[in-house]
Amino acid sequence: MQKIIVIHGPNLNMLGEREPDKYGTTTLTDINKELVRLGKKLGLGVDTFQSNHEGLIVDKIQEASRIYHGLIINPAAFTHTSIAIRDSLLLLKVPIIEVHLSNIFKREPFRHKSMVSDIATAGMFGFGHLGYYMALEAISKLLK
Ligand code: DQA
Repeated sequence: MQKIIVIHGPNLNMLGEREPDKYGTTTLTDINKELVRLGKKLGLGVDTFQSNHEGLIVDKIQEASRIYHGLIINPAAFTHTSIAIRDSLLLLKVPIIEVHLSNIFKREPFRHKSMVSDIATAGMFGFGHLGYYMALEAISKLLK
């Protein structure tokens, strides 16, 4: 069975409580449960990972290069700053989908720059939690 890793960056563990007007009321636990359920339906194994620590995300991406067939990532605030996460993503030879709950291009100028968009296979911005599920469906199509 092909395996996908979904990586969530800092503060996404607070979804549900955190600025619900921007990020919605669905919790990260609910999103992860739905991803695993949808993965089963699509014939994909789905693992999820969240960290508030840049280095731990880099470690997970390095591990992903050996284990997974596709990666979905919402690097959260690290999107706009992390050359380390960008460099680790460059190790991967599998599809990478960048997800943001909000449309970062409609927000403050400092959120308009992504260190990831130009090296990702594709992106989902502004669909809320649905963006993760759409990304998983897209990866399943890309892998066929
Ligand atoms: C976010 C957008 C980022 O700018 C922000 O720092 C986040 C969440 C999103 O999903 O919309 O933490 O990645």
